[in-house]
Amino acid sequence: MQGHPHFFSLDTRRDVAHPGNREATLLFAVEHFINCAKEAFKLHGYFAVALSGGSTPKAVYEMLASPPHSSEIDWKRTLLFWSDERSVPPSSKENNFWMAMEAGFKKLEIPGEQIFRMVAEENLEENAALYDEKIRKVLGLRPFDLILLGMGEDGHTASLFPNTKALEEKGRWVVKNEVPQLKTSRMTMTYPCINRSRNTVIYALGKEKKEMLKKVLSKKENPSLPASLVGTEESKALWIMDSEAGELLLKIHHTKEKGKHTQLS
Ligand code: 6PG
Repeated sequence: MQGHPHFFSLDTRRDVAHPGNREATLLFAVEHFINCAKEAFKLHGYFAVALSGGSTPKAVYEMLASPPHSSEIDWKRTLLFWSDERSVPPSSKENNFWMAMEAGFKKLEIPGEQIFRMVAEENLEENAALYDEKIRKVLGLRPFDLILLGMGEDGHTASLFPNTKALEEKGRWVVKNEVPQLKTSRMTMTYPCINRSRNTVIYALGKEKKEMLKKVLSKKENPSLPASLVGTEESKALWIMDSEAGELLLKIHHTKEKGKHTQLS
C-alpha cells in the first residue's frame, strides 16, 4: 500500500489508511480482508481470521458475506475465530458470534468444524484456557493471517478495557477479563496473541471516534488507552479510518508533512 494516496506509516508500529467517507472506507476494509485471505491461501493453503464485535466490523461482514465480494474468498478453506466475546449465550443479540453469523457468515460455506466460537457464556476462566489451547492446536506455530479489531470511545479494543487485568497478560493468548466499568467479565485475546498476527487491522469510523483516535495515535504507547498498544515493529497494525473519525489525527499529520516540506524546500 506504500504510495497509496490515502495511506501513510504513522510510526514503526502502525500504519494508517484513510480512504475517505464511510462508504469508501468500508469498501477498502473489505478489499483489505479479501487481499489478506488471498495472500494466506497462496502462502499456506488456508486463511485463519479472528473476527471482532462492534457496529463497524458488522458493516464489513455484511459486505463480505454478500455478492460480489463473497465469491472472492474460498470459504471452504477459511478458519473463523473471534478476538473477544461477551458473557452471553450465542443466541443473544449481544453476542459477537451471533452478530457475525446474522451479518451473513451463516450463509457462507465455511465447514462447521472450522468455526471456532468462544464459549464465553459460562466457565469463562476454563473456557478461555480451552480456546487458547484450541488456537495453538489448530494453527500450531503459525500466527493468525488476520485479526480484526474495533476501537471503543474509551480506547478499548477487543475486550481489553482501560485499567483491566488482561492488559498485563504476557503469556496466555486468551483470558477471562473482568471489566468493572461494564459490571461484567468477558473472554478476550491478549496482546501476545494479537501482536503476533501476520495482519492486524483496527477499524475506526464515525465522528464519535475522532477525539479518541487522536489520543491513541498521536502519543507513543499509552497503557491507559489499550488500542494504542496494538502493533509492533515485527507485526505492524493497520488503522483503517474514515474522514470523520480521522479528522483530528489527519490534520496533525498533514501539518507535520507540510512542516517537513517547508524544511526541505
Ligand atoms: C466488542 C468488540 C469491541 C468493539 C469496539 C468498537 O465486543 O464490543 O469487540 O472491541 O470492536 O467496541 O465497536 P463499534 O465499532 O461498535 O464502535
